[in-house]
Amino acid sequence: MTNFSPSRDFAIQLDSQDSLASYRDQFVVNEPDLIYLNGNSLGRMPKSVVERMQKAVEEEWGTDLIRGWNKGWWEAPSRIGEKIASLLGAAEGQVIVGDQTSINLFKLATAVLTLKPEKKRIITDTFNFPSDLYILQGIVKILSYSGGRVGGDGLDTDYRPTRPSPLYRDHEIIRIGAQDDDITPDLTALENAINEDTALVTLSHVTFKSGYLYDMAHITELAHRKGALVLWDLSHSAGALPIELDKCNVDFAIGCTYKYLNGGPGAPAFLYVNKSLQNDATSPIWGWWGQSNPFAFDLDYQPAPGVQRFLAGTAPMLSMLAMEEALTPLIDAGMDSLRAKSILMTDYASYLTDHLLAPLGFSLGSPRDSAKRGSHISIRHPDGYRINRAMIEEMNVIPDFRAPDNIRLGFAPLYLSFADIWEGFDRIRRVMEEKRYEKYPKQKLMVT
Ligand SMILES: Cc1ncc(COP(=O)(O)O)c(C=O)c1O
Repeated sequence: MTNFSPSRDFAIQLDSQDSLASYRDQFVVNEPDLIYLNGNSLGRMPKSVVERMQKAVEEEWGTDLIRGWNKGWWEAPSRIGEKIASLLGAAEGQVIVGDQTSINLFKLATAVLTLKPEKKRIITDTFNFPSDLYILQGIVKILSYSGGRVGGDGLDTDYRPTRPSPLYRDHEIIRIGAQDDDITPDLTALENAINEDTALVTLSHVTFKSGYLYDMAHITELAHRKGALVLWDLSHSAGALPIELDKCNVDFAIGCTYKYLNGGPGAPAFLYVNKSLQNDATSPIWGWWGQSNPFAFDLDYQPAPGVQRFLAGTAPMLSMLAMEEALTPLIDAGMDSLRAKSILMTDYASYLTDHLLAPLGFSLGSPRDSAKRGSHISIRHPDGYRINRAMIEEMNVIPDFRAPDNIRLGFAPLYLSFADIWEGFDRIRRVMEEKRYEKYPKQKLMVT
């Protein structure tokens, strides 16, 4: 690990040695004073997206109109899927873009349960993004009923069937908890929970709060040894670190494109289906974009070959094209050099947390070992929510807040400098020393 120093000059020295520094010029930076530490929630926009969108709107939508579908729109989900695949260690024909991460999880987790009808266990953890947990709960609920009323207030937590569907297996969702530090999942409990009755192991590769990075190869192998399939949520790792889906024999994966992939607000998500499973896995949403011959307008569904069958309906083309353009600088920079800078940044931020903020009541809420960490860290403080608000509203620093006490700082290596990080920490120090957070209510705004 580098011998860091808390001085601003040291940050400037790190910037002078940064081989990726020039990429910042490729991004729209309208407010030079803004310290943007939220590229892990919504990445900055590459400048070239503006021009690409102008062309998409004026020439393609405006002029081509419906002809656009035969001029590259129809193929966009698989064309863009291949570009993302190059960042995920996935060979051709396994990644496709469409819908949201939540919807893609629904499709793939349901596919797993139909591939493993004799097994009951679904294993995940309490570190997973809540939407992922809700989707799993919803799937189990659907499988427990074949139509009819969902009883009472419609919110019964007991998933027992009134009339079971053929797939009903009294599925059990097991959520692995945390180790004592609340930063690391309980890996022994995880290993013990995966047994011969396990259909699915589904986890976030990098967890959304602490930034813990799972050992993908190891967990996938553990699951396979017991006959289970794995589904990784790559939302916080795609574009942040090198991923080897094929090498790790991963079965399924999903992920967002608006975070480190810079695809724009609400940009469509991706999904990965390992080639070896593509003939047998089916989507629970039989839409026409996943039909083998959609323009034959057959009245019965025949799944398209390959990963295409996991599409459902018409792709949001403008978002797709913006996201496609946004991938260019990432692909150009390469994941290895991005990861090297990301590790240096998260190491540096951990050091600044210890040296500048620990005396002010903060603690590090993320792994100290960079091999076990993604590209964000959490800093924890009992008044985290109010501090976060003061940073946004008075200091022009944008992190985000994740309950109960995590201020989450994301480090996107393409456009963030070490001087930005130093400045961000110095402004947090000022918020604390000047007690600026004390005037904010504890009551939270809708989006934190
Ligand atoms: C890890 C993770 N999974 C899933 C989601 C949900 O994504 P979407 O809103 O595209 O369904 C998010 C959103 O932030 C996330 O962070």
